[in-house]
Parts: sequence; C-alpha cells; structure tokens
Amino acid sequence: MVSTPTVEVAQSGRQYIATEVSASASPNQFLLPLTAQVNAQDHLEIGGCDVVDLVKRFGSPLYVLDEETLRTACRQYRQAFQKYYPAESLVIYASKAWNCLAVNAIVASEGLGIDVVSGGELYTALQAGLKPEVTYFHGNNKSVEELQYAIESGCTIVADNWHELKTLVALKPATPVRIMLRITPGIECHTHEYIRTGHIDSKFGFDPDQLESVFQYVSQQPELNCVGLHAHIGSQIFEIQPHGDLGSVMVQWMSKAAQYGLPVTELDIGGGLGIRYTESDDPPSIEEWVKVVCEGVVKACEAQGVPLPRLIAEPGRSLIGSACVTAYTIGGQKTIPGIRTYVSVDGGMSDNPRPITYQSVYRAVAANRMSAPATETVTVAGKHCESGDIVIKQASLPETESGDVLVVMATGAYNYSMSSNYNRLPRPAAVLVNQGEASIILQRETYQDLIRQDSLPERLIQA
Ligand code: LLP
Repeated sequence: MVSTPTVEVAQSGRQYIATEVSASASPNQFLLPLTAQVNAQDHLEIGGCDVVDLVKRFGSPLYVLDEETLRTACRQYRQAFQKYYPAESLVIYASKAWNCLAVNAIVASEGLGIDVVSGGELYTALQAGLKPEVTYFHGNNKSVEELQYAIESGCTIVADNWHELKTLVALKPATPVRIMLRITPGIECHTHEYIRTGHIDSKFGFDPDQLESVFQYVSQQPELNCVGLHAHIGSQIFEIQPHGDLGSVMVQWMSKAAQYGLPVTELDIGGGLGIRYTESDDPPSIEEWVKVVCEGVVKACEAQGVPLPRLIAEPGRSLIGSACVTAYTIGGQKTIPGIRTYVSVDGGMSDNPRPITYQSVYRAVAANRMSAPATETVTVAGKHCESGDIVIKQASLPETESGDVLVVMATGAYNYSMSSNYNRLPRPAAVLVNQGEASIILQRETYQDLIRQDSLPERLIQA
C-alpha cells in the first residue's frame, strides 16, 4: 500500500519512510527512495548508507542517488509495456532529468534507450555506452553542428520544424537519416505553464494544420527516412486521460502519414508522469500510466484498422525523481518574532533551481534526528544573494541546530541537470548508494573548476 498521510504536516522524519510497499506501487509515489530506513543512530539511511556519514565522507551539500529505486522504476516501465502492449515497445530515458555517465549507464543496463536534447547530452550518452539505435535526439533548435553530429552518430533525429527538415536535406547525408516528426497535438493538461508542451501555443513541434504539407515534403526527400511520429504533452502530470487521448490522436496522424507513403512504424508518446513531492501529491503508478497509454494506442489502431506501431515512451522525472535526495548542512538561523524563522543551508537555487523557477514545493527531514517530533514550521533558505532563494517556504521540522543534516526529498529530476554556479558556488558531489556501498558519480566542483574556462587577457594581469 502507498501510505497517504492524512495530515499535511510531518509528525517526524519517520513519517516519510515507506513501511509497506505493495508490488503495484511505484517509486514515483514515495517521497523517499524505496530503500530509506531509520537506523539505530536515528539517522536516515538510503541504499544501506547512513546519510549523515555520507555527508561527513563526501562533504555537503550532497546528492544521494539510490540505485535500487532508479532500477525499480526502469523495470516497472519495461514490465508494464510487456504486459499491456502486444507489439514491440521501447522505453527511453528523458535524460534532461539528469544526464551524466553513471545515470545513463544504469538506464542502459536496464534495457532502456535514451532521449537527448543537445550535442552535450548526446555526447555523454554515447560515452556512457548508449547505442545509437536506441538514442533519440529532440529539441526545437538543434544547430547545424548538432544535426551533423547526430547524423554521424546514427541516432534518430526527432525533427521539430521546417527549418530542421530543410537543414537535414541540405546536409546531404550519405544515407537517408532516420527521423521522426514531432507534432503539437493540442492536448491540454494541468501542469505549470512552463512545463506544458503539447498545447497549440508551444514552441515545440509541427502544428497539426501544417502536417499534410510536411508529410508531402518529407515523402519527396530521399535524404529523409521518416520512421514515425512523436508528441510530448507536458511534465509532472497526474491525470492519465490526456495520455490515453494522445494515443488515439497520434494513431490518426500515423494513418495519414502512411497515405503519403511514409514508412511510419514508430510512435513516441513522450513522458510526463508526475511524482510525489508532498503528502498531498497523489500520482498514478507507472503501471497505471502505461496501461492507459497502451490501451489508447491499441484501441485506436483497431478502430483505424492499422498495424500496431513500435510504441516508445520517454519518461524522465518518474524514473529518477524519487531516487535521489539532497543532503545539506544547516548553518545559521534567524528568527523574526511573530513572522518566521529562517534556517539557512549550504546550497540553494544553484543546486535546485525548481523552487525559484516554478514555485515547486519540497519536503525535508532532519537526517540526524529522524524520530524527533516536528514541532516547528520554518523557512529553509538557500545561501545565495537573492531573497527568492528559498528551498522550502514552510518546512515542518523538529528543532534544529547548526550542523544538522537537512535532507530535501525527491530531488533526482531537474536538480543537478538544471544546476548552476550562481554566486560561484561549486556544484555538489553526487554519490550512488547501493547495499551499503557509496560510489562517487559526480565529483564536487572545486574553486579551480570555477575558473577553468576563465581567461585573463594579458593587459589585465595585475603587476
Ligand atoms: N520528452 C520530451 C520531448 C520532453 O520535453 C520531456 C520533458 C520529457 C520527455 C520528459 O518529461 P518527464 O517524464 O520528465 O515529465 N524542468 C522542468 C521540467 C521540464 C520538462 C521538459 N521536458 C521541471 O523541473 O519541472
């Protein structure tokens, strides 16, 4: 059973430990990674590692990534497709959520492919051992160099617009380039405006009105081998129906594309399944999401009398979001009587820009006093020179003091990947934990790293 606490406020850090995990529950429904426990020292333990010890060993702040949770989510996606889709399917990891060698290698070892959106993500994916046959290159403004690199690597390019189609043709590839066409399906879903992509007023994809002329054009270009269609309607979505509807809309477009002689046999329905960030978030499980997607496509294919396409999904957040926490160390506190208490930590918007960008709400626990009752509501502030640098506006915590380890939960997706060096803070390290072992997967940046790309013209060098 997924425990859905009835109160909005934590009683103690223990509240977030999953006590019973049913087979049908999935990682995106939990605030802490699946392996989270409280150990004899009353510390939070993840992947068999004491998080307080990890901070002592690897420094603070620290991203702690639980391998088992990530692998479980990968397997649940693959198994659900095998269960509900009678033809071939492929799950590709939307690596914008967190692209680095180790994460990419883990998802590849689980039999997933990868979605990349830049030359840099493509490079990292290939270096991690991803095969070009399962690598899909997205983006609304790929540069000529990126397109050339994608062609040379042999990955599939998800063409987003006319400019891109024409650039690909002009590049005169030696063999036809494997492409898919991204469509803006006009399906609305409820999520933050910045992370909605499938509505008509979107910078991504071909407008449905243009599609027939696009099909016509592509069918006449020997340089282009259009194998399928793609759509992505948004991110952090809790409703399932929009994805069910998406399947049927897309199948209709596939039939249309086939009428133009395009060899469309693949359908990529994007990602978007949400995760739990707070007690009141109630996302569907991976299996529930996959079931609706598959049923939508199968039903539409039957209705249209067309063969089942190879079905591709590209989740990001729901694969990795719940697998990671960020451990910070508490520094100073400031109480403004009658107003609030600020508890400051040693990171903030540079390692997690989501609160300041999307007003995202997170939950935290004091990792070195997991059983202590949560008696205070405080504001967890980052250390950046910016009033808006607030990690959690209203955090329900026990009394804390400087030196305590504060763990912010569900930081696996779009935290490291959107991190910056604002205020010249070095990026934190990341450790991968599994069965009591901790391995560094991202080194902590150093001050030398911060000036690595700086260049000081001779005339500015101080005598
Ligand atoms: N496919 C495409 C084409 C996408 O644009 C995205 C996400 C995904 C797949 C994966 O979606 P997911 O399963 O992760 O929801 N930075 C924002 C999220 C931006 C999502 C962009 N596209 C955030 O922090 O909430």
